[in-house]
Amino acid sequence: MEKPPKITILDEKDQTLRKISKEVIFPLSEQDKKLIDDVIKYLTMSQIEEYAEKYNLRPGMGLAFIQMGIPKNIFIIVEELEDKKFQNYVVINPKILSHSEELVYIGEGEGCLSVNREVEGIVPRYARMTISYQDISGNKKEIRVREDISVAFQHEMDHLNGIIFVDKIDKKNPFKDKDKMREI
Ligand code: NI
Repeated sequence: MEKPPKITILDEKDQTLRKISKEVIFPLSEQDKKLIDDVIKYLTMSQIEEYAEKYNLRPGMGLAFIQMGIPKNIFIIVEELEDKKFQNYVVINPKILSHSEELVYIGEGEGCLSVNREVEGIVPRYARMTISYQDISGNKKEIRVREDISVAFQHEMDHLNGIIFVDKIDKKNPFKDKDKMREI
């Protein structure tokens, strides 16, 4: 693999991250398609230790277009399935069709490429969801997600609504309602 693509990721202080992203109209522009490819490559390399070290990349599994200053309803998730094998999700115009009653939270805390600090506390998330979305060609799709991928989808969908995970942590008691949900 060659060098990671150059991607500028906005920091949490940037108010652009508070914008509400807009519905994407198809076909995608060549520029957007290129950016999607770049993000997939970037996130993949960031999760491979040798590249992360060599190019000083913070490991990340998801990125929404708004984190690059583009208010479009697009996000990308790259999941490591096993050692250096990855699955990509390119999700455009997502909508939640249904979700579990059960809530979970990531025990070690969520992370975000726009938040350059450790943040402790509980972010309540649905354990499972069914989502409708469009793929890169505009085809309508449905996907059922669970556990950490369900959390990742909710984290990215929040970005599309101008929400950052730290917003959802109770400031006075970051571990509030811990007993009401399952740690994953
Ligand atoms: Ni994020």
